[in-house]
Amino acid sequence: MCGIVGYIGDKQAAPFLLDGMSKLEYRGYDSAGIAVYEKGKIRVEKCVGRLDSLRQKLAGNVPVGTVGIGHTRWATHGRPSDRNAHPHTDSSGDFVVVHNGIIENYLALKEALLEKGHVFLSETDSEVVAHLMEENYNGNFEETVKKVLRMIEGSYSLVFMCAAEPDKLICTKKDNPLVIGLGNGENFIASDIPAIIAKTRRTYIMNDGEIATVTKDAVWVQDINGTPISKKVFEVNWNAEAAEKGGFEHFMLKEIYEQPKAMRDTMTGRVAKDGSHIEFPELNWTSEEFADINKIFIVACGTAYHAGMVGKYYFEQLARVPVEVDIASEFSYRSPIIDSNCLTIIISQSGETSDTLAALREARRLGSRTLAVTNVVGSSIAREADQVVYTYAGPEIAVASTKAYTTQLLLMLMLSIYVGQIKGTLSAGRAKELVAGIKVIPEQIHELLENVDQLKVFATKYGNSEDVFYLGRSLDYAVALEGALKMKEISYIHAEAYAAGELKHGTLALIVEGVPVIVLATQEDVYEKTVSNIQEVKARDAVVIAIAMEGDDRIPKYADHVIFIPRAEKYLTPLLSVLPLQLLAYYAALTRGCDVDKPRNLAKSVTVE
Ligand code: F6R
Repeated sequence: MCGIVGYIGDKQAAPFLLDGMSKLEYRGYDSAGIAVYEKGKIRVEKCVGRLDSLRQKLAGNVPVGTVGIGHTRWATHGRPSDRNAHPHTDSSGDFVVVHNGIIENYLALKEALLEKGHVFLSETDSEVVAHLMEENYNGNFEETVKKVLRMIEGSYSLVFMCAAEPDKLICTKKDNPLVIGLGNGENFIASDIPAIIAKTRRTYIMNDGEIATVTKDAVWVQDINGTPISKKVFEVNWNAEAAEKGGFEHFMLKEIYEQPKAMRDTMTGRVAKDGSHIEFPELNWTSEEFADINKIFIVACGTAYHAGMVGKYYFEQLARVPVEVDIASEFSYRSPIIDSNCLTIIISQSGETSDTLAALREARRLGSRTLAVTNVVGSSIAREADQVVYTYAGPEIAVASTKAYTTQLLLMLMLSIYVGQIKGTLSAGRAKELVAGIKVIPEQIHELLENVDQLKVFATKYGNSEDVFYLGRSLDYAVALEGALKMKEISYIHAEAYAAGELKHGTLALIVEGVPVIVLATQEDVYEKTVSNIQEVKARDAVVIAIAMEGDDRIPKYADHVIFIPRAEKYLTPLLSVLPLQLLAYYAALTRGCDVDKPRNLAKSVTVE
């Protein structure tokens, strides 16, 4: 994520920048900075920490000037630090940029720039953009931006300043949001509407590939070939609070809808360009060290634990390594048998969960290699593990985890393919098939999110039930666990998930007339058995809502209702089947009038034992 802002006009830039950034802190808050054109040059002030740290740093010495840009950071490349904070400059300080996104080819670009004598001050991917501007500047700001855009790959929204042309800001975007606020004698740039809503409701919503030159009196938009683009003014009619949630009623719903983008970001740089394999350039273990791993422990809490349950299937089936999945609060107290050929994978969205951190320390103490899978760069778990891979889900604000979970699943799958490739348990052809499936997942999620009317109807119809049961086998069981957790934590309905085969060993006693039973039936190898379980609960007059794959024309004969997910290969179905479960929980909570984003008794990050 990250929040970016820009101002050009007659007034002082810094007050708008700081205020706008405060409205974007939900997009990232590990460091902050501004750049203002002051007395003939660009002055940059930045520091690690929340925006308040920057305010304190600037107290009594706020940059004076009417053109500037600002950034509030959610670290991806390079841990939170003063130097990694944005804005970034070239060697001369004449070109300054703020960036939200990931420059995928930054390492190659950086190496070429280092050879030419550029000195880099940060570990970020973003800094290359400022140096590329310096390297390519030909006296024409717009043309240089276009040239640089042809060199960079990845996702971005960018705002550029150039000391030689201080009467304009240039901004552009690809796969990350950017809006321009239209004022009188002043114009504003921001990642998102909350930053500008206090100043203007007249906006241009920027599309991918559009490049805007913003002066105090005009905004001129063109594409990379110089073709002018005429933009329609979008009048914002949301209130400030709704704007912060991107127009969604709750952060949870916003985050559910951010999943296609979160998926794309998490695959960035890890799916080989030709689609043939998975790579993890950030991992420093050698192939031999990976090949030596003879056991994996996956340790986590709550939703992250459920991602680990899915991970077990992936690692065992694709990499053929035995896996134990542990709840973090249990792991440390059961004397696990671990040695240096074990890999302990610690999954944590926040990277700060106390039980998970304790488990990581215990695994290290016992001699295991450790790998953190976390969403927060520079978090305690990221710092203490031997190696770390990040889920690039962006900040998750709602207590109920959604996009963090699906990015954790995706990382589990990509890691197991990666280890399978190294260990030779996965053929090149099979790896390629899986990678092809991974690449279409964002589009399939998007498709699912376009069709939610049926889910709203079910939530209204069954939202006042006392109990709901979730059944599934194999990967469907692991997803059922997550579906039930979502339901209980935000709607307070008593929800339990069972391995469908366990039903007759006790749970069946709870199945009575009218009880909703959600049955996941996406796994072909256990399909017949799952259908038998549907019949068992139907025989007790339960109401069955099945989650099945498109094209399954048998399932409507057995279930009362069917929610279809796009057809996908078996290892990819968890990434899709959980979506209707997240949404069912969300709409059931709405039906019951619950506080969706802040469910009772729960905290986002559990930093006590
Ligand atoms: C449920 C949820 C929690 C967290 C758990 C671990 O929606 O969010 O169950 O998954 O508290 O948190 P992290 O992943 O931050 O370690």
